[in-house]
This record gives sequence, structure tokens and C-alpha cells, in this order.
Amino acid sequence: MSAEAELARIGQALLEPGAPALLRCPALEKPAYPGRVFVAARHDVASAILCDTARFSLRHYDDLLEQVLPGTRYLVGENDAKRQVRLRLLHAAQGWLDAQRGANAGDVPPNLAPAFRNWIGAMAREEAERVLDRLTRRAHGAAPINFVREYAFLIAWRIARRIIGVPAPHRVPLPVRLVAALRNISRPGPWLRLQGEQGASLTMLLMLQPLFGHVFGTVTTSPGWMQWLSRQMAQPSLAAIDRAFDLPGVAPAHSLLAALAAVEPQFAEVADYRLQARSLIFELTGAMVLIVGKSLAEIAGFAASAQGAEAGLDWITLVTHLSARDHGWARRDAAVNEALRLVGGSRLMRTVRHDGTWRAISLAAQDRVVVLTDAASRDPAAFADPGRFAPDPARPYITSGPLEGPHVCYGRGMAWTIMAEAIAATAGRIVPAPDARLTNFAGLPDDLPFTALYQ
Ligand code: HEM
Repeated sequence: MSAEAELARIGQALLEPGAPALLRCPALEKPAYPGRVFVAARHDVASAILCDTARFSLRHYDDLLEQVLPGTRYLVGENDAKRQVRLRLLHAAQGWLDAQRGANAGDVPPNLAPAFRNWIGAMAREEAERVLDRLTRRAHGAAPINFVREYAFLIAWRIARRIIGVPAPHRVPLPVRLVAALRNISRPGPWLRLQGEQGASLTMLLMLQPLFGHVFGTVTTSPGWMQWLSRQMAQPSLAAIDRAFDLPGVAPAHSLLAALAAVEPQFAEVADYRLQARSLIFELTGAMVLIVGKSLAEIAGFAASAQGAEAGLDWITLVTHLSARDHGWARRDAAVNEALRLVGGSRLMRTVRHDGTWRAISLAAQDRVVVLTDAASRDPAAFADPGRFAPDPARPYITSGPLEGPHVCYGRGMAWTIMAEAIAATAGRIVPAPDARLTNFAGLPDDLPFTALYQ
């Protein structure tokens, strides 16, 4: 049995009545790593682990990044002094942006404030309309639209450009060309070109993809080739951020990059300001370009499938829910949460800090815990009728990680806004082609055929 099949079996076993909180998965252990590997799947167990940073650390994200990009860190990592600096930078930059736009967040965190979300939403609508205008002009009577590449990842990239402000590298790195060529010869349909804006979005995505696999997909250690590829692909992206910092006037005026350049004088005591600011830009660009594009494509793929229809989430239902702007964000967010919950597929990692017993399981420092958030998202103890689409703001939610504590997803409000607007904008313009099926390449969505509606 493969390690993946074993993991799935353990995930099922953990949801059985009377199952322990964690089960060990020797199939995922490696001689090169000193700790054992445990798996968590129940919703209450997964939530408890993600929120308990005193017992379960995020330092493996730091270690994995350090292996390939020394000095670069994500906010998803150990809550050390440098992370505190990055948080201060981010909050100062967000405050500067709000002041520029004359926005006042009131009592809510600025990244979740309705005025901020409405601003992001307006931008997402505008970008979606522009892309749809082009696609529908082209598509009548021609080849189907590739929703993944020509819509989801393109919109995510265009919005990342505007909100975060980082340009594409001005040269396409050789490994990116090779991976794109591999994709083109191994997949049917039109070739992806590394030219124009579509090319910029593809280049950025391909540059980030191996690193995300290395940092977020590694249970204990990743193979040497993946570390090499991550380094080769990600370094040009960091270099592009450095160049953008040298020319901050070129960044969009209301972007995070412009804001971080503007607040730099407030942080004279931070000797490595550029390194910390670059880490922030890099992390948020990755989240926006890769995770938002991927999630958007996967939600569309699910809603276009027979499985989606069985769950009560066909394409028209999804578009209808997300177009209901007059109901405020809570109901639209609930629909996005439910769609992500049903799409599933994600898992998170934690490392045990100290030897000790947790929920009757004896754990040792350095043991790893794989938190199956997809299994937790379908735990019948937390979700009545877990296979049904049942949007409700009261439903528990775990797909964007811990819901409290220092590691709550910073970009959730932005991501949910962009995905809702991008899907709502398709109403009356494009729909899934008959028998549309989402296909993947190298672990990411690659194609989902849509057709244009005549207007
Ligand atoms: C559908 C889109 C998204 C999903 C599903 C998602 C999911 C997640 C998850 C699961 C975590 C927790 C990771 C862990 O604890 O190990 C997380 C954290 C985070 N996310 Fe998101 N995310 C999304 C979009 C975004 C966007 C657009 C941004 C920023 C532009 C963002 C920024 C962050 C940051 C900075 C953290 C780290 C929080 C911390 O540890 O301080 N996310 N996200």
C-alpha cells in the first residue's frame, strides 16, 4: 500500500467511534528524520492541534525555507522576534494603505474590514470583467476557454500585481521554460505560451510551485531534486521583489510594496528591513497567486462535476449564492467556506515541541503531526450531513487553518472576496462545457473547459 493510501486509511480509521486522537503512520517516516509521524483527522483534534502553539510548533516551515532560501521566512512559522517584526511591518503598511484610501476599519481587524473588502471586491470585479470581455470575444465558435489558466490563475495574478505590487521577473528562468515545455508536450489541447500577461502569470506560478510543494507538502524531509528546483525557481522571484523595492515609485500606488517602502523610515532600528519586507511580499504573493488561483479552479471543477451536483453544489447554484451581494459578506463567505470544505484536499503539518502525553498519546519532541484538514472538514461529529453543500455562517470551518491564536490566515477576507467576485462575474458570460472535468499537472489544476454564452 502506498504512503498516500495508508494515510487515507488512517484518516478514515480516526473518524470511527472510539478511535484514538492520533494514529502513527510509519509509512511516512524516513530514516533521515529522527521523529515519528502521527496523523490527526477528527475536527476537534485538528482544531486543538492547530490552536495549541505551546505544544505544537510551526518551526518546520522555517527549517524547510532555510534549506533552500536562507534568511527568507513566512509568517506561517515560529512566532519568534523576526516574525514579530514582520507583523509590525505588515500592520504599519496596512495602516498606511488605509490612510491613503481614507478608510477606517473601526472595531474589526483592518484586513477583514468591510471597506477593505469592498475595495478588493471592486478590483476583483473589474479584473474579472476585463478578462471575460477578452475571453468571450475570442471564444465564440473557437476552442473552449481554459478556466484554470485563462481565468482563475490569471485573475489571481492580476490582483496580486495590484494589491501586492510585485512585477514578474523580466527574464523567464530556464527551469520555468523546461517545466512549461514538459507540460505542453504531455497535455492535450493548446500550448501555454510564456508571453504577455498570460505568460507572466504562468511564470510566477511555476516559480512558486516547487517551493510550495517543498514547504507545505513535506512531512519530514523532501528529496534533493525538489530542494534544488525550489531554489532555482524561487530565487528569480525574490530578485524581482528586490528590484521592485529599488523602484518603489513604479509599484501600484495602493499596493503593499508601495506601502512597505513608504513606512520604511518608521523602522530605522530594523537592520534587515529589506529582508523582512521581502519575505512578507514573497509569502503574500505566493498565497495570492497560487492558493487563490488553485482554490478558485478547484471550486469551479467541483461545481462543474457530477460529484458537485450530488452534493447540491452545481455551477448555477454556486454562481447564484455568490452573486447575492445584498445579503452582505457573511452569507457569501459561508458559501465559499462550504465550497472549499467539499473540495477538500488540504493538510497541515505541526512538530511536537516537548516529550509528553497529549490526549492519552505519548509524544516525543520532533514527532510530526499531519493534520488532515480535509478529513476534519467532513467529520460527521462536526458537520451534520457532511457531504452536502449547506452554507451557514454558524458551520464550523477549518480549511484556512487555525481559527484563533497567532496563526489565523491573514488573507482570508481578501481571498474569499476575490473568489466570490470572480465566480459571480461569470453569470451570463461563461459556463462549464458539457462533461467538463478538471485536470491537473504537477499537483496543480491545469485545465477546465468552459464555453462562452451568446449575449
Ligand atoms: C483560498 C485561499 C486561501 C486558503 C485556503 C488559505 C489557507 C490558509 C491556511 C490553511 C493557513 C494556515 C497554515 C498553517 O497554520 O499551517 C493560512 C495562513 C495564512 N494565510 Fe492563508 N489562505 C488563503 C489565502 C490567503 C491569501 C490571499 C493571503 C494573503 C494575501 C493569505 C495569507 C496567509 C498568511 C500570511 C498566513 C499565515 C498566518 C500566520 O501564521 O501568521 N492567505 N492560510
